[in-house]
Amino acid sequence: MQSSAIRRKFLDFFEKRGHTVVPSSSLIPDDPSVLLTTAGMQQFKPYYTGEADPMTSIHPTLGRALGSRNAVSIQKSFRTSDIDEVGDERHLTFFEMMGNFSFGGYFKKEAIKYAFDFLTEEVGLEISYVTIFEGKDTIGVPKDEASRKIWQSLGVTDIREEGIEDVFWGPTGSSGPCGPTTEVYCKNGAGEDIEVWNIVFNEFFFNGSREELLLGASGKKLERLKTPGVDTGMGLERLAMCVQKTKTVFETDLFEEHIAVLPADYTDRQKRIVADHARAGVFLLADGIRPSNKDRGYILRRLLRRAIVSGSDIARLLEITVAQYGAFYPELTHEHGRILAAYVDEHAKFSRTLRHGLKELERTETLDAKSAFRLYESFGLPYEVIKDYDGGKKTLGLTREAFDEEFRKHQEISRAGSTAKFGGHGLYMKTGEVTIRDESEVEKVTRLHTATHLLHAALRAVLGSEVRQDGSDITVERTRFDFRFPRKVTADELKKVEDWVNNTVRRDLTVQWEEMAYEEGIKKGALGFFREKYPPRVKIYTMYDTASDEVISCEFCGGPHVTHTAEVGKFTIIKEEASSAGVRRIRGVVE
Ligand code: SER
Repeated sequence: MQSSAIRRKFLDFFEKRGHTVVPSSSLIPDDPSVLLTTAGMQQFKPYYTGEADPMTSIHPTLGRALGSRNAVSIQKSFRTSDIDEVGDERHLTFFEMMGNFSFGGYFKKEAIKYAFDFLTEEVGLEISYVTIFEGKDTIGVPKDEASRKIWQSLGVTDIREEGIEDVFWGPTGSSGPCGPTTEVYCKNGAGEDIEVWNIVFNEFFFNGSREELLLGASGKKLERLKTPGVDTGMGLERLAMCVQKTKTVFETDLFEEHIAVLPADYTDRQKRIVADHARAGVFLLADGIRPSNKDRGYILRRLLRRAIVSGSDIARLLEITVAQYGAFYPELTHEHGRILAAYVDEHAKFSRTLRHGLKELERTETLDAKSAFRLYESFGLPYEVIKDYDGGKKTLGLTREAFDEEFRKHQEISRAGSTAKFGGHGLYMKTGEVTIRDESEVEKVTRLHTATHLLHAALRAVLGSEVRQDGSDITVERTRFDFRFPRKVTADELKKVEDWVNNTVRRDLTVQWEEMAYEEGIKKGALGFFREKYPPRVKIYTMYDTASDEVISCEFCGGPHVTHTAEVGKFTIIKEEASSAGVRRIRGVVE
């Protein structure tokens, strides 16, 4: 069975059972706390929380209400956390996620029965085994006995219990729906059992990130959702492996043509990486992302550059992707010209430095994190390219952690006017470059850094602790602080925030930093910008009153900061405005 038939069967199966067919949303999510769309449920988040009503609220891409409490989609998804795994039999960056969803329409019984029927009757697979949630006292969620009984009633006997890491989904982003899951395993063409379907029972809402949930951070609790929901996800590529009986996703018809045009002397791993990256690149470009040194743009740049370095005909792979996938994802056909043009542009930019970079790589005997970082800086060679060079012989001791650490050190030095962000899997990305010109500017930026932590603390004190940092940017002139908050901040509140900062500055708190394991920082209640993925060891800055030991602010931060708050000087808010939906932006200066 071809993958196009699997897609059609999936949508038809659920449409016949009262689900509204919803097109994939963009890879750029609405939720500002998430870099790229990683799951089908993301576009439906407001239906689970009750912010939107499936029967009356206009759905942004359908242009009308869902008109049903149940929906089905095939969602373009991208997981940066899997970049390092690409090259094996089944990991991908971009993938298509088939899913059925319910927002108060049905629950466990129907969801499990649908999955059983679809797999066994529509695509003719046998279920090897399923998993259920074993329960966890500390979050107050019991073992999922209900799912066990339903599977048993369908004749499935191999039912395995697993823990929170594996079979408790979500939340995505900085807060959201989450709950226990049951996963279905089937055999691929190699006779191995692989997970094909993840069925999530969204019973809870967690007002924090997944990391915070797993670490039991700062006393946050799961709240029950008013209406429990269902969110399921099945990777088309993996299902195709089982249905088409192949040993790897790259042998399915989804990649057949890509692999066929790649040079025969490439290793399997090289072919898979190039095929994955070229296909993913097309989808990112089609959604309007362009290569850059920032956020999504940097993810795209890494994919394209790694593919370019392979020396194969990437433009051809892009054409193959557009031709093959354009029928189901019309944006690919629509953006065809622009996708190619953006690629040609990136190719030209990279080619200018690539030759020199490769020469340098050739010359170097072994590469440690420092020399690898220098190659990144001077020639735009991404980590993956350096690591893979010459079969990885020169980089045996090089790890992503050490490379990221170099990035962090560098970023601390040239901090002014630039902020560093992490994308997905702990990779740092530069977002700007301004060279510090003289001592007085260093001093000014340092004061603004401390003022920014105080502003964050003040906003939480005045507006409530649900205020959540969404980003910040500091130049020698001002600080700019983005935070999630649903409405305009009134003039009166702004005045209170400003006064709070200035009073705290006058208290002359001590500012101190220590380095510790990320988990320890979370336990201490340190605030972070949870869209980022932090490295294992982090720096925590604390501001406290030495007389009373009262802690005023505790944040993950690279610094630099003043040592006593009185050095900050007078703080003034100069502007408050909307930055994007649900995100406010404040600019402040120090004198
Ligand atoms: N959200 C779950 C997942 O991505 C099920 O769709 O696996």
